[in-house]
Amino acid sequence: MTAEAPSGCPVQHSADEPRLDFGGTTPYEDYVHASTLHELQRPVTDEPLEMSFLVVTQVMELYFGLLAFDLRYARDRLEADDVREGTAALRRCTTHLKALRAAWLPIARMTPREFNTFRHALGEGSGFQSAAYRHVEFLLGEKSASMLAPHRSVPAQHAELSRALGEPGVYDASLALLARRGHGVPDDVLNRDLTLPYTASLAVEEAWTKIYATDAGHLIRLGEALSDVAEEFTGWRHDHLMATRRAMGSKPGTGGSAGVSWLEKRARRDIFPELWTARARV
Ligand code: HEM
Repeated sequence: MTAEAPSGCPVQHSADEPRLDFGGTTPYEDYVHASTLHELQRPVTDEPLEMSFLVVTQVMELYFGLLAFDLRYARDRLEADDVREGTAALRRCTTHLKALRAAWLPIARMTPREFNTFRHALGEGSGFQSAAYRHVEFLLGEKSASMLAPHRSVPAQHAELSRALGEPGVYDASLALLARRGHGVPDDVLNRDLTLPYTASLAVEEAWTKIYATDAGHLIRLGEALSDVAEEFTGWRHDHLMATRRAMGSKPGTGGSAGVSWLEKRARRDIFPELWTARARV
């Protein structure tokens, strides 16, 4: 087969070989925007490890965005009573979280001396200021109005997070679904103030206990898919804590917190609490 290259020279390729003749751009570039992605790595120092840190951080940021996308989709499907699709989306989230955790590898074991070679490049920058991460936390029920404050100066981010603060998360949608299926979820849980963090309820623990003791169908699969997401997210927090302990011990964080002791408190928070406490009662 012969095609005309932009220069006017014919480009030869046979039917079983990939196409070689593209003018100006490639369909891959048009779809993936690879050049744009590769332009986004702008290290501040000449330290090779800074490039690993920057790329890993950007990869994690993309995964936070992907998680927010699929968690919202899961929530919407559960609200529409589509348990199968909602559970499938939660399973995708677990796979994303596993990949997110694997992304720690290149920087998980930095020594303090290695981290110090480029730490000044971060200035006061910290993952604490990641809007996509905070959106994921909100969708997991970890609401906090004060966490909007760092985003005040970026109106689009602030507006999106403010909206997410007042919307149901995946657990709210799951509990509403349990209620519609006749499980005793009380009104004060169903009509809770969505801008506040989710707090455990004895009645919800009882509902999950009954499902785990008697149901072998889609509700227990939903419970397990939620538990997987909670476990992997907590695992990411723990990985982050250990990477931080290795890289800087008890020094304060670039974002102004006490550092490791602050992260330890965050890592202890339980996501979807009754899914853990109910297990002792089955
Ligand atoms: C080993 C390198 C890292 C160290 C030493 C470190 C250290 C810290 C510290 C001390 C904090 C607390 C806030 C502060 O004062 O800055 C923090 C928060 C945070 N970091 Fe990192 N970090 C590292 C890598 C990363 C990476 C690669 C990401 C990915 C985006 C990330 C995401 C976050 C997030 C999302 C928070 C907020 C956690 C929360 O609100 O509970 N960190 N980090």
